[in-house]
Amino acid sequence: MRKLVLILSLLVFALSSINAQTGFDDLAQTPPMGWNSWNTFRLDINEDLVKEIADIFIDKGLKEAGYQYVVIDDGWQINRDEDGNILANREKFPSGIKSLADYIHSNGLKFGIYSDAGYLTCGKFPGSLGYEYQDARAYAGWGVDYLKYDWCYTGNQNAPDSYLLMRNALVKAGRPIVFSICEWGTSQPWTWAPGIGNLWRTTFDIRPCWDCGQQAISKGKQIENFIGFTKILDQQVGLESYAGPGHWNDPDMLEVGNGELSYEENVAHFSFWCILAAPLMLGNDIRKMSDEVLEIITNPEAIAVNQDPLGRQGRKVRDDGDFEVWSKELQDGSRAVMLFNRSASDETMSFEWREVGLPQDLEFKVRDLWKKEDIGDFTGSFTSAVPSHGVVMVKVF
Ligand code: GAL
Repeated sequence: MRKLVLILSLLVFALSSINAQTGFDDLAQTPPMGWNSWNTFRLDINEDLVKEIADIFIDKGLKEAGYQYVVIDDGWQINRDEDGNILANREKFPSGIKSLADYIHSNGLKFGIYSDAGYLTCGKFPGSLGYEYQDARAYAGWGVDYLKYDWCYTGNQNAPDSYLLMRNALVKAGRPIVFSICEWGTSQPWTWAPGIGNLWRTTFDIRPCWDCGQQAISKGKQIENFIGFTKILDQQVGLESYAGPGHWNDPDMLEVGNGELSYEENVAHFSFWCILAAPLMLGNDIRKMSDEVLEIITNPEAIAVNQDPLGRQGRKVRDDGDFEVWSKELQDGSRAVMLFNRSASDETMSFEWREVGLPQDLEFKVRDLWKKEDIGDFTGSFTSAVPSHGVVMVKVF
């Protein structure tokens, strides 16, 4: 017994010192929430746009709903000066990045930026290879709170080593910066990234389409890989145990409000990101979104599932082809459960308590998290109509 206590204490000590070394121990305790420029604006970004976005966070209640990080993706940089300092494109960002960060901070929000572990970013602007410490220090000086770090033009670089190097540079720069690893899941980052970054991409780039398969588009030397939302979903199965407070699987930024996704598809997409404890990084033009889209992305009951402090990633508990059941354990012992209908017609679906880890013979309340109403008390199972390409998401408590 005494031996066991000793071993356990050593283990706790070892784990806490690893945490202390990372400098990331209290960042992203729940999945980061924010907005990123890429999914809508690609390389076409500028300071007025980003300031407008930061204002919309306040005006439309996104900040109040929990969204915090305003992140500029690829396309803000132009080149380096003779001392190797990274320079912003002054045509797009005439006031400079520090001033933009100050503006975002003055709205009570946090500011994120983008770079790449290779010699160029995917948009062919200077990457951070060989300049990691210098870039990290620049970001810290500007007041950056979040860094998305991409994987283009990395040749035969080793991914864990490259990301560890930038993580060390960020820690040395002395400012707490959420570190978002964007390596597209190719070297299974979930197996090495939890001690290095706060989130890591698990797939190629998302597209606002229901089930388009992987498509590779050649862009110069680089191949870009795209994938639709349900295909991304299939790739999350089995990754649940790697996620937790401070370290999250990232199935890519949201496409809610983009492309041709229907209302039901947008609700399904958002619900899944909530059940998966995925980072909620909006990717739509929030200046122009419909009231319907605003209502989806600010649903407090869905967001509470995503932000639950236990930090469990939900898992698929049943797969009947087009009909799936997903469940996420919440801190208070309740379950968020989602019935998912991939088929082309509406369907009646059900799940049993035992499938979500609850005793079959007990009575529980069921609350519909999209209708935002208690449906009633049930024992053993719950049945509901589920729209085509849609979900019903409930809390069982
Ligand atoms: C990709 C990345 C996208 C976006 C883009 C910028 O590699 O997955 O999310 O950042 O690069 O060029």
